[in-house]
Amino acid sequence: MNDQADRALLEALADGRWHSGEDLARMLGVTRAAVWKRLKKLERFPGVALERAPSRGYRLTSPLELLMPERIRAHLSPSAAARIGAMEVHLQVDSTNARAQRLAPTETNRCVVVLAEHQTAGRGRRGRRWHSPLGGGLWFSLAWRFDLPLADLGGLSLAVGAVVASVLEEEGLEGHVLKWPNDVLFDGRKLAGILVEASGEAGGPCLAVVGIGINLRLDEASARSIDQPWIDLEQVMAAPPARNRLAGRMVQGVVEGCLRYGDSGLSSFLEVWRRRDGFRGRPVRLEGAGGGVRSGLCLGVDADGALLLETGSGVERHHAGELSLRGGGDE
Ligand code: BTN
Repeated sequence: MNDQADRALLEALADGRWHSGEDLARMLGVTRAAVWKRLKKLERFPGVALERAPSRGYRLTSPLELLMPERIRAHLSPSAAARIGAMEVHLQVDSTNARAQRLAPTETNRCVVVLAEHQTAGRGRRGRRWHSPLGGGLWFSLAWRFDLPLADLGGLSLAVGAVVASVLEEEGLEGHVLKWPNDVLFDGRKLAGILVEASGEAGGPCLAVVGIGINLRLDEASARSIDQPWIDLEQVMAAPPARNRLAGRMVQGVVEGCLRYGDSGLSSFLEVWRRRDGFRGRPVRLEGAGGGVRSGLCLGVDADGALLLETGSGVERHHAGELSLRGGGDE
């Protein structure tokens, strides 16, 4: 059994309607026994919930819009599309970041894009696992080669946070905020996460793998394994954008963002970042900042992306750590 066979079955069921075993067998050109085996396998993917009824057959408990490269590309401008060397959509992959790293472009100002319905080893920041149930979100990575020294990529993850927040706003979301360095939160709960992995020569060029995970509709079982407060677009938007559209708009935003970052760094993203800053002016804790915990008043971000923390002993600048509100109930 391979991904293509699983995907064909999922495509047949994606409309959320009932399909008899016979129909599915005819559509896929296999026996009913083979369909049954594939259904069993499909059910084991996190995020897939199947119903069966003796007289009607099988259906997904909710319809699913599968990702398709041509439907994603339809939302790209010709100039953004020209920057993309390859675009892969996987039914499942270990991590789209890992896959994009393996496909990395050789030319500067070019990229590859990898999307997956499901990641078996999705990576989060600070060595955490990122739960990526099938069809439950948008899990994708873009590997971009910059003609910049490695040290200049320090602000890229904030820039990408600003891009994600802006695209969500353009798609009709209101009320989301950024949490340093780049989480997108709604109601204090995580809606999207970003992982930027950079490598290369100190003097450049260098490669940035930009991984973005946006929760769209998490199933209960997968959500139970998440060890932090979370939320998905389905809960916060009356009419969330279609998955292929959102993927296309996000890829467009990140391609434009990488070009702009390559030209002028973080500066042009700061206005959006500061407008969406959900922690500025609030008492916070910063864990893991130089090994310890620092508490103070959050003064927002500096021009180079550092977090500014006002403490009893003055204003500190931090480049790493995990931020949480102090006394806000989510410490
Ligand atoms: C975080 O911890 O907030 C960052 C999460 C980043 C998750 C995305 S999902 C697509 C890409 N592939 C990965 O393995 N991780 C990123």
